[in-house]
Amino acid sequence: MKTLYKIQNLSFSYEPGKPVFRNVNLEIDFNEFTVLNGETGSGKTTFCRILAGLLKSFEGSIHMENSEIRKKPVDKISQKIIYIKQEPLSNVVAANPDEDLSIWQYKFHLKLNNDFEKDRAQALRFLEIEDIKNQPVWELSSGQIKRIGLSALLLNPDKYWIIDEPVIGLDDNLFEKFISVLELRKKQGLGTLIASHQSDIFKPITDNFLKIENKNIKALNSS
Ligand SMILES: Nc1ncnc2c1ncn2[C@@H]1O[C@H](COP(=O)(O)OP(=O)(O)O)[C@@H](O)[C@H]1O
Ligand SMILES: [Mg+2]
Repeated sequence: MKTLYKIQNLSFSYEPGKPVFRNVNLEIDFNEFTVLNGETGSGKTTFCRILAGLLKSFEGSIHMENSEIRKKPVDKISQKIIYIKQEPLSNVVAANPDEDLSIWQYKFHLKLNNDFEKDRAQALRFLEIEDIKNQPVWELSSGQIKRIGLSALLLNPDKYWIIDEPVIGLDDNLFEKFISVLELRKKQGLGTLIASHQSDIFKPITDNFLKIENKNIKALNSS
């Protein structure tokens, strides 16, 4: 067991007097498969943003591997985690899928190696977007754009994955493949946090089930 996040007395609001979280205390393990569930508007996306270091104006403390996340620059946090946002287009910075993945590679691997092209092709093939890899993003459907973000995960296997609502826009066949990747990660001791309003489908592989209720996040584990 390796604690990735230690959250103490976390409170957060976007606007004064309208808290999203009040006094949350919990730990998230690097090795575990964690599901974050809660009703629409309960704060799943907000919590992902906080863990990714994008929202710093919270109260309380969050330690990421023993250092205060508030003081950690986003690029340092991104060496440890990859965060795929709920809104498909917000994960894409380039004009087409292939270019976008190459930016992920250059940004996070820094050193070039000969497998870059191969890794990228493999990720695009897995998400079944290889045939549209050079097509402009503005011509793609939202489901296809969603897959670009998910394919970036495959290029970052060693990081902790935070994925906000991965199921929306995925068809059944691709969902099965996606679950098989998550299962494999679990066996390898690599952790994932999935924020989803459909937590049941992840139940068979869930180690840590977090539920947002009444502005608090509770671990509802059977053990
Ligand atoms: N940028 C923002 N500014 C103000 N309020 C926000 C912002 N983003 C989200 N909220 C509000 O915070 C609450 C939690 O939203 P969100 O984290 O997106 O929930 P979920 O992902 O569970 O649907 C909602 O009431 C939402 O309207
Ligand atoms: Mg959300």
